[in-house]
Amino acid sequence: MKKILILYYSQSGQLKRVLDTLVAPLEQCDEVQCDYRQIQPLRPYPYPWSFYAFFNVFPEAVYLDGCEVEPVKAEEKYDLIVLGYTSWFLSPSIPVTGFLQTIQAKRLFKDTPVVTVIACRDMWLMAQEKMKSLLAGLGARLIDNVVLTDQGKSLYTFVTTPRWMLTGKKDAFWFFPKAGVAEEAIGAASRFGERLCAALHNNEEQHKGPLLANMGAVNVNGKLIATERIAHRSFLIWSTLIKKAGPPNSPGRNIVITIYALFLLILVATVVPLNMLLRKIIYPFRKKAIEAAVSSYEQPSGR
Ligand SMILES: Cc1cc2nc3c(=O)[nH]c(=O)nc-3n(C[C@H](O)[C@H](O)[C@H](O)COP(=O)(O)O)c2cc1C
Repeated sequence: MKKILILYYSQSGQLKRVLDTLVAPLEQCDEVQCDYRQIQPLRPYPYPWSFYAFFNVFPEAVYLDGCEVEPVKAEEKYDLIVLGYTSWFLSPSIPVTGFLQTIQAKRLFKDTPVVTVIACRDMWLMAQEKMKSLLAGLGARLIDNVVLTDQGKSLYTFVTTPRWMLTGKKDAFWFFPKAGVAEEAIGAASRFGERLCAALHNNEEQHKGPLLANMGAVNVNGKLIATERIAHRSFLIWSTLIKKAGPPNSPGRNIVITIYALFLLILVATVVPLNMLLRKIIYPFRKKAIEAAVSSYEQPSGR
């Protein structure tokens, strides 16, 4: 009997639906036991978020501070862990980071193959780099990464995803598409579960991996790489400033958050379109380097 632990933290239930679809074929699989567990922070995070609650978690997410979480009801060891997480400010969400910092995680992840599953807006590269080092620190073996991103162009999701997070509304409006991952993409996630079932049957998880190659598990947008790298550098600077201004929800912190939000709006209205234009112009000259970066970020599963 193979044992799989499916661990996740999802607020609206979107990531959970992705996992439900992915895990369904595994639950039908002979000789496989699936333990499905949600990570529970001791102090729950709000959903939908108020403006200040949303930005108050920014520095702690970026600095991987984590939060206290309930222990998960689980066995001593598993043959495979499927770890579902969302990206918060280009970092794994705080509850998932918090869980990965527990003694229980140390025991569960050591020498265990891990498949990460991400469902987010469309900026997950830096989060996954951080995830890779968290998993390496636990002695885990990352063998695959599956990523589903919100439907619509980046410029649209820059409006639809925050609107969804701040109001709970996902519907299409004006010329904007519905927020979140497309239903077809969620439905198609079952192919990963089917493949994992076959792979477990053949003990393939015991080898180096990946198990989900050539299945469209990830699709890195080369045009977003530079944006993410630059944004992450700026996030580190602003996180330090916001932390120095005061503890979470203090008046000092909220003042700096207000300044930051204004700065962000001006940045999005001016620098981001200019940067996109510049990237288009220099793309032919940087094509090789960008393609190399794309294929590196698409590891271990590849496209
Ligand atoms: C505080 C916060 C920060 C977020 N930051 C990002 C981000 O940096 N990149 C991204 O692609 N999505 C970001 N998102 C969207 C989430 O990754 C995810 O799509 C959304 O929270 C829905 O997931 P869930 O309802 O399954 O938890 C953020 C969401 C929250 C709540």
